[in-house]
Amino acid sequence: MAPPKMFVARELPVDAAARAGQGIDVRVFSEARAASREEILQEARGAAALVTTLSQRVDGDLLDALPTLRVVSNYAVGYDNIDVPACTARGIWVGHTPDVLTDATADLAMALLLAVARRLPEGEAMVRAGDFGGPWHPRKLLGMDLSGATLGIVGMGRIGRAVAHRAKAFGMRILHSSRSSGLPLPELLAQADAVSLHCPLTEETHHLFDASRFAEMKRGSILINTARGPIVDEGALVAALEGGVLRGAGLDVYEREPAVHPGLVDRRDVVLLPHVGSATEGARRGMAERAIDNAARVLRGEEPLSAVNRPRP
Ligand code: DGY
Repeated sequence: MAPPKMFVARELPVDAAARAGQGIDVRVFSEARAASREEILQEARGAAALVTTLSQRVDGDLLDALPTLRVVSNYAVGYDNIDVPACTARGIWVGHTPDVLTDATADLAMALLLAVARRLPEGEAMVRAGDFGGPWHPRKLLGMDLSGATLGIVGMGRIGRAVAHRAKAFGMRILHSSRSSGLPLPELLAQADAVSLHCPLTEETHHLFDASRFAEMKRGSILINTARGPIVDEGALVAALEGGVLRGAGLDVYEREPAVHPGLVDRRDVVLLPHVGSATEGARRGMAERAIDNAARVLRGEEPLSAVNRPRP
């Protein structure tokens, strides 16, 4: 009998075939980019496992065209690119990569918070432009004190908790709001000097931060988003920055990635990064290993290490 086939739809920082082990026919998309939908449909034909990245949409139509699939393994902790109920209904496992990227992503959320609070991009741009702003000055680039400030964490999962742990070490008071615990969001927003988003993107959290939500925020507060772009209505965010509701924002993710709202690009009160929350060598290696392991385990008749569903038998 031919060995089961695994199609890895984008090259990952791991030797996928060696990691999957013997008895699995691993094919990795050969180009230095993510396979398109058409390329997935073609190259994953007959595959029992499909390893995807977050820009690759997996929906019912794709699953119907690949009826041999037993597992879709996402190289990400978020899985909003995958129609999980459609997988479950077809008996297909969905795997993801929690834990291994928690510290890296929490570090980046703190880096953004520090950068916005202490106006790092403004200072850096001044120095690089040869404009030191004169000699040392008592009022140059005054920023926000983190010690004693209140951080509101929206979504208290692994990454939210890791951010809370770090922020406490900076002397911050922590509030949180999540589906099952913490404060109602309007109460959190009324008190928080900075808000960091760590909830998944779902129908409920799409545009969770819209104009009415920004109106509930404390004047002069900071918004940090390392979760998913569409949680924030970017037009409303620009208006909140323009209106002085927000002191600044630190963003790693965008509503229409890789496009960035033009109203954000020239602002000096925002720090913009290109979706690099998990971009450390260790985290990305761990994610690659977990994604391949999740898929390989299903092909060996086991459950994924990190499953987001329990497929119908
Ligand atoms: C994730 O894992 O969901 C990130 O967005 C990419 O690491």
